[in-house]
Amino acid sequence: MNGFPSILESIQDLTKPQIDALLERANALKNRAPARLPLDKSLYVATSFLEHSTRTKFSFASAIKRLGGNHIDFQAENSSLKKGESLEQTLLTLYYQGIDICIIRTNESHLLDQFKDNPPIKIINGGDGSNQHPTQALLDLMTFIEVLGSLKGKRITIIGDCEHSRVTHSLIELLPQYGVELCLCGPESFLPDTQAEGVTHTSDLDWALENTDAIYLLRIQLERHDQSDQRDNSGYHESWGINLSKLKKHNVTLPIFHPGPANIGVEISQELVDSNLWMAHHQVRNSVYMRMAIIEAMVGNGDNKVGAQYRDLSKNILGEDK
Ligand code: CP
Repeated sequence: MNGFPSILESIQDLTKPQIDALLERANALKNRAPARLPLDKSLYVATSFLEHSTRTKFSFASAIKRLGGNHIDFQAENSSLKKGESLEQTLLTLYYQGIDICIIRTNESHLLDQFKDNPPIKIINGGDGSNQHPTQALLDLMTFIEVLGSLKGKRITIIGDCEHSRVTHSLIELLPQYGVELCLCGPESFLPDTQAEGVTHTSDLDWALENTDAIYLLRIQLERHDQSDQRDNSGYHESWGINLSKLKKHNVTLPIFHPGPANIGVEISQELVDSNLWMAHHQVRNSVYMRMAIIEAMVGNGDNKVGAQYRDLSKNILGEDK
């Protein structure tokens, strides 16, 4: 897709027409449209997951294979990063080896900012700290539209540890563009203080359940909590977890989304995971098609200023008369 970014770090890197085109393409791929890749070379995509993953890593792997590409898993812990090589030099090395795109997950927020002006390789953010998880938000958008129809005027309520959730930060940037009123619900300490158009906050779970079209649950992301910020979560399910009796109390039937991994018995009960309200498997299924669409769009973005091209390697740094 011409003009598609070479570094997809955040939802803000995309225009609304680009997001619309991704949705259209992901749905076409789901309906078995053939892959659209340049014919002059094979596709090589590397994944580099510096933090654990099941859904993101394997759906990208599946997407790459379905596009007819080659997947190489870069194991950071066994690489020369451990010998002090910089991430930029590592990515340039992958570029020289003919890798088209590298998908990176890291626990460091904003790690990719440094590459935006001079990309050493095309990069897709597979989740960086508590900052952004743009591909998850895009596949969620695809699934919300599939389940809820037009999103204009709908309210979607994210319940749980919004503050530490990178996908929440991506959804805050994405969903209001589609007319969604996004409600962030949880204990005060789990709510971000960011103010954004189309986004409200509440710690009143009863009100939230009665005034929403869908719920999106989050696990408590303990790995991103400060040591000084440890809270006792033993009563979390009773206070904030969603179960059948809470839905019955409010007489509501709501589709329940979750980016995964879910902690059953904490933010969600087993009976709801086993019910027809649980939409997480639709999100997982759509993840492959949305990630295929994103890879296709990035491969075909026409950007020839990636890798070494932006460096003038012919420059004689010793000067004319040396
Ligand atoms: N949703 C998500 O990012 O899941 P994984 O951590 O399993 O990739």
